[in-house]
Amino acid sequence: MILGTGIDVIEIERIARAIDRWGDHFLRHVFLDNEITYARRHKAAAAHFAVRFAAKEAVFKAVGTNPQLSWKDIRITNDEHGRPLAEILNHDFQDSIYLSLSHSKHYAVASAIITKTDPAA
Ligand SMILES: CC(C)(COP(=O)(O)OP(=O)(O)OC[C@H]1O[C@@H](n2cnc3c(N)ncnc32)[C@H](O)[C@@H]1OP(=O)(O)O)[C@@H](O)C(=O)NCCC(=O)NCCS
Repeated sequence: MILGTGIDVIEIERIARAIDRWGDHFLRHVFLDNEITYARRHKAAAAHFAVRFAAKEAVFKAVGTNPQLSWKDIRITNDEHGRPLAEILNHDFQDSIYLSLSHSKHYAVASAIITKTDPAA
């Protein structure tokens, strides 16, 4: 059963400007260590930061207000195939999150779907 969906699109340049202006203070406010390490491994780091920012916004929309999440309550990782995963930290969240990310030269986009976790899975 689908409980919620969320989508977000962002201009990569907006995140690049925030990084230029606020540097580590901005990055550490929004992103967890693993997300910073992942994005910085890539030449186009701003695109990877932007898509993680969009991912968190999409999860906020999909989850709604219960629980009320902040940036670092959402951890984005990638599995061994590169597929992105979202986890909720600091809250008792038992539902499943399906995340899809994409970025082009100028834009990053994310979609999140929340479902009841199948107890048999
Ligand atoms: C996976 C693939 C579809 C990504 O497409 P792309 O056009 O290069 O990149 P996009 O900008 O649209 O998306 C990039 C995002 O896709 C996601 N992604 C990467 N690999 C993925 C995968 N296997 N499944 C789902 N999403 C994936 C990541 O979140 C990535 O962003 P991130 O590195 O910042 O986390 C592409 O690499 C591909 O077609 N690979 C060949 C098929 C393949 O490897 N399939 C996976 C089998 S293991």
